Amino acid sequence: MGKLYMFAYTILCLLLYGLPLGSMNDSAPNKKWQLVDNFEFNYDSSTSFRNDPDWSIDDEPENLCVGENIFQYSCHRMRNVAIQNGHLVIRADVNQWRGSSRFLFNSGKVASLKSWQYGKFVMRAMLPAGKLLRAVFLLKPRHMKYAGSWVDNGQMNGLVYAQQADSIITGIHYNMSHGQSYLGRLMKTKHNLTDSYHLYTVEWNNHTIRWYFDDMLVFENEVGKPFDQPFYFILQLGVGGPEFDTRHLTVTANDSSQWINPRFVIDYVKVYQDASTLTQHSSSTNCKCKLSTILLFLLLAIFLFL
Ligand SMILES: *[C@@H]1O[C@H](CO)[C@@H](O)[C@H](O)[C@H]1NC(C)=O
Ligand SMILES: *[C@@H]1O[C@H](CO)[C@@H](O)[C@H](O)[C@H]1NC(C)=O
Ligand SMILES: *[C@@H]1O[C@H](CO)[C@@H](O)[C@H](O)[C@H]1NC(C)=O
Ligand SMILES: *[C@@H]1O[C@H](CO)[C@@H](O)[C@H](O)[C@H]1NC(C)=O
Ligand SMILES: *[C@@H]1O[C@H](CO)[C@@H](O)[C@H](O)[C@H]1NC(C)=O
Repeated sequence: MGKLYMFAYTILCLLLYGLPLGSMNDSAPNKKWQLVDNFEFNYDSSTSFRNDPDWSIDDEPENLCVGENIFQYSCHRMRNVAIQNGHLVIRADVNQWRGSSRFLFNSGKVASLKSWQYGKFVMRAMLPAGKLLRAVFLLKPRHMKYAGSWVDNGQMNGLVYAQQADSIITGIHYNMSHGQSYLGRLMKTKHNLTDSYHLYTVEWNNHTIRWYFDDMLVFENEVGKPFDQPFYFILQLGVGGPEFDTRHLTVTANDSSQWINPRFVIDYVKVYQDASTLTQHSSSTNCKCKLSTILLFLLLAIFLFL
């Protein structure tokens, strides 16, 4: 009988200690980065992106269009934003309203209402194909912590894509010394970004910001202030922008005839944060685990001694 108890005891020990250890995978790549927000755009019939409290969608009346300050020819319309097959699709089309010589097109812009200070922001997306189409994934400060203009509070350009099917621009805006306010990199990727999905990542902590295309490091900047405040993200499709030589452009609505696929298709955006800065949550669950294990052993020991 004693041997049977010892056998059961050993098995229980193995189960209690072995199982939790087995599921804590040290080689898993997400050990440092813990998923904190997951925007997968999988809405069922009972939920709607338009009513999702996590997002805002710009909807400018066509006669009161403001677009983007950076010379774009499109107006942000809610009807140009849709969920299709679990993807967020921002589409450009021709603005039928003829009251403006500038806003010849419609496009869309959405923003997260949540914001985060530090973390890893990963967008998986396929980019639009055609003349003057420009897709961006930006991070902007939620509240302006520092006096001055938007530049004094910083902006991280996770992705700026301007028509060239194989090229991305990553970069950063802030008030640098020497009066400079922008640093960035244009990279040719060797992929056709308009017919395949890729990962566009910004990894940001209190001293360094890194940009990745898929798993490849694209750009890096060592900076603390003003990137020491919560940021939110923007996903936007526009027509035109500063990367195009607007001074020498004659844009007409007919330029849309040179669009192959005027859609910015986002599969997901995921936000991760450093697990070591989120210890409160994980250590409390660890404590619970340990406590229940100790209690079980105590009960078992009492049972064995009786
Ligand atoms: C641990 O993670 C690695 C990398 O994700 C995976 O290949 C491996 O199968 C995992 N092992 C266990 C026991 O889960
Ligand atoms: C921006 O940087 C310049 C030069 O470093 C500095 O003189 C100026 O005060 C800065 N502006 C703000 C709002 O910090
Ligand atoms: C890239 O893909 C688009 C379709 O999105 C296609 O029309 C275009 O020809 C491709 N470009 C190259 C250089 O293969
Ligand atoms: C950045 O954060 C780490 C850990 O939270 C801290 O030890 C370090 O002093 C911080 N560095 C700066 C420059 O604030
Ligand atoms: C519109 O563009 C197409 C293709 O670029 C061209 O064939 C057509 O003549 C243009 N129409 C006008 C009205 O400019």
